[in-house]
Amino acid sequence: MSAASIRLPLWAQTVASLAGAPAAGPLLLGVDYYPDQTPEALWEEDARMMADFGFTNVRIAEFAWALMEPAEGKFDFAWLRRSVDILHKHNIAVILGTPSAAPPPWLTAKYPDIVEVNEKGERLHPGGRRFTCPTNQVYRRLSLIIASEMARTFTETPGVIGWQIDNEFTLGSSQRCYCNYCQAGFQTWLRSRYGTLDNLNQSWGTVFWSQTYTDFSQIPVPLPSGGDPNPGLALDYDRYQSYANVSFQQEQLDMLRKTCPRHFVTTNNVGLVDTINMRDLYEKLDFTAFDNYPGFFDMLMAQQGRMGSSAFVSSSIALGHDLARSVKGGKPFMIMEEQSGKAGQKTFSPQPEKGQARLWTYQAIAHGAMGVNYFRWDTATFGAEEYWHGILNHDRSKSPAFDEIKQGVRELKALGREVLYSNYVTDAALVFDYDCSWALAIQPGHFRLAYLDQIVSWYGAISASRSGIDVIGPEIDLSAYKIVFAPVAYVMSEKQAARIRSFVQGGGMFVTNFRLGVKTETSQIVRTPLPGLLRDVMGVTVEDYIPVYSAKNGMKFSPALAGPDSECVLWTDILQPAGAEVLASYTMGAHAGQPAITMNSFGKGKAVYIGGDLNEASLARVLRTLSGMAGVKPPLEVPAGVEVTVRKAGNKQWIFVLNHGASSQSVNLPAAFVDLLNGEKLTGKIDIGAYGVRVLQA
Ligand code: GLA
Ligand code: ZN
Repeated sequence: MSAASIRLPLWAQTVASLAGAPAAGPLLLGVDYYPDQTPEALWEEDARMMADFGFTNVRIAEFAWALMEPAEGKFDFAWLRRSVDILHKHNIAVILGTPSAAPPPWLTAKYPDIVEVNEKGERLHPGGRRFTCPTNQVYRRLSLIIASEMARTFTETPGVIGWQIDNEFTLGSSQRCYCNYCQAGFQTWLRSRYGTLDNLNQSWGTVFWSQTYTDFSQIPVPLPSGGDPNPGLALDYDRYQSYANVSFQQEQLDMLRKTCPRHFVTTNNVGLVDTINMRDLYEKLDFTAFDNYPGFFDMLMAQQGRMGSSAFVSSSIALGHDLARSVKGGKPFMIMEEQSGKAGQKTFSPQPEKGQARLWTYQAIAHGAMGVNYFRWDTATFGAEEYWHGILNHDRSKSPAFDEIKQGVRELKALGREVLYSNYVTDAALVFDYDCSWALAIQPGHFRLAYLDQIVSWYGAISASRSGIDVIGPEIDLSAYKIVFAPVAYVMSEKQAARIRSFVQGGGMFVTNFRLGVKTETSQIVRTPLPGLLRDVMGVTVEDYIPVYSAKNGMKFSPALAGPDSECVLWTDILQPAGAEVLASYTMGAHAGQPAITMNSFGKGKAVYIGGDLNEASLARVLRTLSGMAGVKPPLEVPAGVEVTVRKAGNKQWIFVLNHGASSQSVNLPAAFVDLLNGEKLTGKIDIGAYGVRVLQA
């Protein structure tokens, strides 16, 4: 076969034609588009306007099952082909979405038991979306059929470059299914995990409350009973539900790899959810694709009574990006849906401030994204998301952010693919362990203790400028980092303990807090003094562990961590050092004067145990002091509310400086830089406007 006869995928062709960026991939600066919801008479105009806007691609069809398969086994892709052709004519490439998140009414009428059962045992109803059981074989078969028909139809279609499988797995009103199919699936999964019933009974401790199973078919799912479920069963059920969704995706992925070998494949999800293990979800996909709605998240937090939690919101958003990058070991990711206007189903989030939509785009790139798709092109005039604003308003006039998003797209093209596909620079890692999140939700220990809250507040505390943090799983080798943070590492496997041990031995700093190593992987409490497997590394024994309610406690710091006393918000672990140095002690009650923070030298490194739940200011001071001790330095000194990250390719570096504040801020530059966005030569004190961005290069 001659080289000329090998047809590269469209995205690879565009890359090949780009001299000087050998490591780069496709340029994905696009928009989520719904030809299925748009009169056909407007398709041409849409495509022309998108091309004029500078967009390179769209994502389409992910909710169009009813149009593509109007009756079982009858397929109609003619309309979709016409749409793809028009887009292609205007040089807009297409990412196709498989439609399994919204099966049509004929399907649910005929196969009603594909519908999910919630955690109370109530069956949901069709009529919304994401109401399906991930285990149900009929649903899986029909999902695979429609996806396969799509794939066969479009594998050779010019303009089609890749796939999004389904849409936001698990993000429905009930995030897990508890139906009979899931029960049977769970039992099969348990059989392969445990081998024998004896092993399972031992691992869960089913002798408690007379739950010894004598046949796999007796094993229940954690639906309401007269008392709480066995914690081992409950944890395994969360693992099973994550697995069921991932294996559902895998069926479509295997098919797409065979049928569309020249296309990339991904799926979209939201960063900070713990109902599906993102590392498993994306493991076999080409890259992570992530949906980002900062304003909507803000509104959601307010609805949940967390009004005014702007630090929590901004940390969560930055963390979501770092997670998206880290999910595939630092590989550049894409934003599949970026908020472009007022967002919400029944209520509106505010219109992003002037400059914010462009700022969010740069935040994604700053944290390692290679592409951004905006949600959505036009704004629906019907359906459950009429309030979700796009780039065009309901009357197709320009939305308030139209011009700035257009500007951002133009600028990113000018910056070029080299930066979009460059590496993200990091010295620190934050462990985000789904097992800990699940196990702690099952038994929080304190009704307000939540793993995700701890992760977000630690993330916010580690670096004021949100610089250089990977968000990693417990299975990762730690040797690349100077410092690793692992709050509430409640479930600790032997392998993870061994990795932490060798990291500290080799010279790393490991920082953790209360509830360390309490549980084994099967959710039994360890039979050794706490912190269990890491007691020698930490150089402490936990003498007692005490949730905080009305009897308050406080913490006083040694000179190494000097600062005002902290209250202990939710928790105190009372520590007994065995070789570790004491860096803080409790101030009140029976344990006044006893150690509250310790630092142990172990091998060439240090292990720090923070026994009490610190208030925000103290946590930030303590974690930043420890980072300093570990040799981590922010790339630039910046005022609060300014974010700084660094990307790198070869010996080129890009420093992103993002002002999330409503007023201009100034920063002192340690050397001479050029702002690549406007060519300005900069030294000394520079300004960054409200919601402004600078991309600096030395
Ligand atoms: C999600 C979904 C989209 C759309 C937007 C706005 O992230 O993936 O289909 O619903 O939110 O609601
Ligand atoms: Zn189910």
